[in-house]
Amino acid sequence: MGEIRHYILRQQLQKELESAHAAESKGNDKEAGEHYVKAGAIARKLAYIAPREHAEEFFHSASQLENKGNVIRTTEGRDRAENTDLIDSMLVTQKPATSWDDIGGLEEAKHTLKEAIILPFIKARPDFVKITKSILLYGPPGTGKTLLAKASSNTLNATFFEAKASGLLSKYFGESSKIISSLFSKASEKQPSVIFMDEIDSLAPSRSSGIDESSRRVLGEILEGMDGFSARKDDKVIFIGATNKPWDLDDALLSRFQRKIYVPLPGPEARRSIFEIHLRGAGLNVNISDLVKRSEGYSGRDIAALCQHAISGMVKEENPGLEDLTSKQLESFSLKTRPLLPSDFDSAFEKIKPSCDAKSLEKYSEWENEFA
Ligand SMILES: Nc1ncnc2c1ncn2[C@@H]1O[C@H](COP(=O)(O)OP(=O)(O)OP(=O)(O)O)[C@@H](O)[C@H]1O
Ligand SMILES: [Mg+2]
Repeated sequence: MGEIRHYILRQQLQKELESAHAAESKGNDKEAGEHYVKAGAIARKLAYIAPREHAEEFFHSASQLENKGNVIRTTEGRDRAENTDLIDSMLVTQKPATSWDDIGGLEEAKHTLKEAIILPFIKARPDFVKITKSILLYGPPGTGKTLLAKASSNTLNATFFEAKASGLLSKYFGESSKIISSLFSKASEKQPSVIFMDEIDSLAPSRSSGIDESSRRVLGEILEGMDGFSARKDDKVIFIGATNKPWDLDDALLSRFQRKIYVPLPGPEARRSIFEIHLRGAGLNVNISDLVKRSEGYSGRDIAALCQHAISGMVKEENPGLEDLTSKQLESFSLKTRPLLPSDFDSAFEKIKPSCDAKSLEKYSEWENEFA
């Protein structure tokens, strides 16, 4: 009787160990951990019925197996919990306040994005009308790439995930590739969804510029994720990447973007609407056409800074001693303002210069001709 029981337990132990090894080799740590713990429990039973000279050995294996199982199981569990938290933190539940009307110019980019986001929702769509699932926004710094992606998230009731690539790599070094793969599966689970990956150049530098192992894995996960949802015809997941250094992107990644949209420095008309957006509500004793003329070469971000500078100069002038008010005085204080004057902008133009020079602009158009 004892011998049969011993035989059965040995068989069970063997089976648990085989399953543990198989799970471990597939990277299923949690499952492997559970098999190790079960194997440990069986070894303990064996210890009780084994002849005294072998009992010690079984007890020893039992505790080793249980320890190993618990370590693997909990690390995996903890990693997973942390990843879930992180993915949840990328989920933008509070939709950004940015709307299409807050973006001056960029009509073509707006149109393409709106269309890409709306099309998947149309059920009666013939097969030859293909959905755009991946869009790259590229262009000089401060031209509205991030704004465009944020406005997209407001368009429809889609789940919006926002991941800033630079943050991902630096904070979660080594874990980044796992996080990316969870991000893609979560997006697919919660579809319709938009994944916005900002500053994608920092996550996926080109192979030629010497990529380290962890970045290579991350890049692999992104490529796999993009392939996954473009292959699934009915998936409603859109991937938007943004960069101001498109030439740093990996070729394989670049070729996967169905649309590459150039987000240029604003022309005169776009500058006019950007001024209007950033001066909304402020009184103006200034000819906007003058501002438009003077701001050639300025990006949207530069123009926003110009307006901010002019406004704060005016506020300072109208409210002398503002910074010395006590908190008690502040409560009853009402801020004085006046319409903005050309002189407010003079000092702003003096202080704020265009942040993008002609040489780097040339680089964008060269790149556009070659790749986009
Ligand atoms: N087209 C625009 N219309 C209105 N405001 C703009 C526009 N472009 C830029 N701005 C202003 O500049 C700020 C920065 O824009 P945004 O973050 O979209 O730039 P970006 O293209 O993503 O730049 P970067 O390449 O540096 O990430 C915005 O918050 C906004 O205030
Ligand atoms: Mg940006």
